[in-house]
This record gives sequence, C-alpha cells and structure tokens, in this order.
Amino acid sequence: MVKGSLLRKIAERALGLEYAKLVWKRIEILGDVAIIRKPFDLPIDVFKSLGEELLRSLPYIKGVWLSISPVHGIERVREYIHLAGEAKTEVLYKEHGCIFKVDFTKVYISPVLGFDHMRIAKMVKDGESVLNMFAGFAPYSIIISKYAHPSYVVSIDLNKYAVKYARINIELNKVAAANEVLHGDALLLTEALSEKFDRVLMPYPELFEKALRASLKSVKLGGYLHPHLFVTSEKKQNALQEAFKIVVEVAKKAGGIVEPVGGHVIRGVAPRKYHVVVDAIVKCKS
Ligand SMILES: C[S@@+](CC[C@H](N)C(=O)[O-])C[C@H]1O[C@@H](n2cnc3c(N)ncnc32)[C@H](O)[C@@H]1O
Repeated sequence: MVKGSLLRKIAERALGLEYAKLVWKRIEILGDVAIIRKPFDLPIDVFKSLGEELLRSLPYIKGVWLSISPVHGIERVREYIHLAGEAKTEVLYKEHGCIFKVDFTKVYISPVLGFDHMRIAKMVKDGESVLNMFAGFAPYSIIISKYAHPSYVVSIDLNKYAVKYARINIELNKVAAANEVLHGDALLLTEALSEKFDRVLMPYPELFEKALRASLKSVKLGGYLHPHLFVTSEKKQNALQEAFKIVVEVAKKAGGIVEPVGGHVIRGVAPRKYHVVVDAIVKCKS
C-alpha cells in the first residue's frame, strides 16, 4: 500500500500545491497501475504531468490512467483515458492475501470495499452456504472461501467479464472446490435457485429494494442478509441506524421480518448521503 503522504508529495511536485490538494486522495493503486479519478472541475491536460511523475516516483507502476466518469450502467464501470506508461488494463490486484486478476475497464473494482470483504468473511461460520448476488470479480466469495469454511459459495453477475474474472480468480486462489459462478440476472436467478442459503450478500446499493425482496425467497429462516443501500443522514454516525429502519421497513413490505444486528458505513457518496451495508437476521420470511 502506498502511503498517502507520498502520493501527496508526488501530486505537489507535478501539479503544485493548489491542484495537488484536490487530486492526491483520488489516486488509487491497483497492482502495477495507478488510476486517478478526475475531479469534475479540472481539465484533462492537467493530469499528463502527474502521470509522468507517478511513473518516475513509483518504479513498480507501469501505467497510469485517468478515470473520467463515475461508475455507470448496470455493469458499474468507469471510462478511462490513458495518461502515461504501458496502456494495459488487466491488473493483478492483491487484497487480504488473495490475488485477483481483473480488467478495470470491464469490471467494477474499488479498494473501498476491501474492509467489508474481510468483515463479512469473519462472520461466516463453518459449513455455511453463501449466495453472493452481485459478485463482480468475486472478492467477497474468494475472501470468504479463503478465511472461513463455507460448505459452498454461489456467485452471480450479469457482466460476462465479471464472470470470466471470477472464475479465473477462484482458480488462482485455489478455492474452486467450494465455489460456483453463475452468469445472469441475480434478481431472477436468486428466486429460481432451489436451495436456500445461510447468508445472502447484496453488494449493489442501486438494486437494494429488489435484491432484498429476492433474497427473502432464497435465505433460510435464521439466516443472514447483507443488503447494501444508500442512506440520507445529517451525520455519518447516524447513517447505520437510518439504514436499519429502511431495511426493516422494506423487508416488512415484502412480507418478512428481519432484525438488524450490525453493519458498516462504507463511504460518503454525496453531502449527507452514505453507502451502507447492514447485517440482518431473518426472523420471518415471505
Ligand atoms: C458494485 S459491483 C459489485 C462489487 C463486488 N461485489 C465487489 O466486492 O467488488 C455490482 C455488480 O453487480 C452486477 N450487476 C448489476 N446488475 C445485476 C443483476 N441484475 N444481476 C447480477 N449482477 C448484476 C454488475 O455487473 C457489477 O459487477
């Protein structure tokens, strides 16, 4: 992991103090590639010199890219412009001792979920069955398989590249025995699966309500749900409690009773708006 203070110095050398302040926290390192998330108000040509400076200062960085859009579309990917060095887009990204091959232009990837990947893995008990509805390149599924002892983990994604990399990563991390990957719409597949799961992950806040409804059909009574959702809250410390209320309400509308027992505020996404994950036990199902 590169220290923030080093990235800040590199940005200051390339851009000067004023611009560096706006940019240094927006530099992400994925394997041997650096990605800069462009602030809306700065022109693209400002970033060429930062790309060159990152290559000079961090010898293991082989390429630098500028991300010029937020994540968008159902596949949740960004648009990129190549800034410096090699133009490759497939990286080897390491997280919690696991290794993930992924093309960041084709599949959602964000180190911001890293804490939650391990937080959930620590909750999984021996022999559990786990459904990961929006698996991406399968970091939750693989970290769970590596650090817990689930009986099996089913991962679903709509993006064919996510499915391709999930399968590659399952092999790379030697967790194939406990893992299956399905390509398709999780909202439909979840309801179609005949087995019921001990734990269902829904790491896609944009589909929160629909996913929670579908998950109630595929979770066991007494099992755990982990919906992700966006919450509006005046203060960050109240965001989780707000999320609890919403999860209980939406489950109730779907004919279920859930008891929130924990969770985590993943990040702020706008002023007073947070991306939150809730841990809830299923007390009664539709
Ligand atoms: C936020 S990303 C997942 C992040 C991933 N779980 C991780 O930990 O990095 C959401 C994923 O949901 C997938 N997706 C969107 N709609 C879907 C649907 N209806 N069924 C299955 N996957 C879907 C996208 O392709 C994307 O990979």
